Amino acid sequence: MTRAATPPAEVASPLNALFHGDFLVLAARLADDSVDVVIADPPYNASKGGDWTWDAKAGLPGFGGDWKKVDQTWDDMSLDQYFGFTLAWLGEVKRVLKPTGSLWVHGTYHNIGVINVAMQMLGIEIINEVAWYKRNSFPNLSARRLTASHETILWAHVGKTRRYRFNYDWAKAASFPEDRLKEAGKQMRTVWDVPNNKARDELAHGKHPTQKPLRLAERILKLSAAPGQVCLVPFAGAGTECVAAVREGLDFIAAEVDEAYVEIARRRLAAEAVR
Ligand SMILES: C[S@@+](CC[C@H](N)C(=O)[O-])C[C@H]1O[C@@H](n2cnc3c(N)ncnc32)[C@H](O)[C@@H]1O
Repeated sequence: MTRAATPPAEVASPLNALFHGDFLVLAARLADDSVDVVIADPPYNASKGGDWTWDAKAGLPGFGGDWKKVDQTWDDMSLDQYFGFTLAWLGEVKRVLKPTGSLWVHGTYHNIGVINVAMQMLGIEIINEVAWYKRNSFPNLSARRLTASHETILWAHVGKTRRYRFNYDWAKAASFPEDRLKEAGKQMRTVWDVPNNKARDELAHGKHPTQKPLRLAERILKLSAAPGQVCLVPFAGAGTECVAAVREGLDFIAAEVDEAYVEIARRRLAAEAVR
């Protein structure tokens, strides 16, 4: 009997292999209740240019200002599209996440309200809203707004009862050289002082416009996961959350639509393997 050298892509295991394509396509291959933790860093939908109006006729003003920071087509949807997109991916995350698992979603005020409402509509319970304080954030050049110096991270679970993992003792004991707000022996608060700068090896394989610092994903996993578990990363970008999963001893499942970012993430992961 001859054995196939490699299984066809449709049946290949998604474990520890970054999928190049839409998360919804990958999700369709995943079984119910099959992942332990999800770190989702979706498009914030903030690439609108100077005239951000959701709907001029209906008088929905949007956010004003020149929001071209990311300036990518994957980050530019109408409000309806973004709401539909959010419900679709969150619905799949709810299906595949174990009732004992945790879901973490990144955002800013541009998108986090939509995500919060979508979670409530889908029956996903928010545990905490974390303010990621970015001490070294860029000044506001227009001098017409406060300097945006935080992002939001929602921590949620999908269980009927609150059985999600919370490594409370680790969190209480933890301190971080760069976090001026967290003292060892004191409960972890919902404001995290995590500088947005990255180590050289985080940037060595190419640039992504919204790359997160590795230490943020590592904190999330230390707080709510355990080695040997499976971490789902629906929007992998440059692979930060996948690398964090590897470093924390977890398996990962991940998707990314943009080929250039897939390449960066794969190079980072290959470098991790020989580290
Ligand atoms: C905010 S970035 C993630 C950055 C990542 N946390 C990092 O540190 O590199 C969002 C990513 O989602 C990707 N993306 C957008 N829509 C997607 C989809 N439907 N499925 C998979 N990836 C998608 C974009 O190409 C982008 O790289």
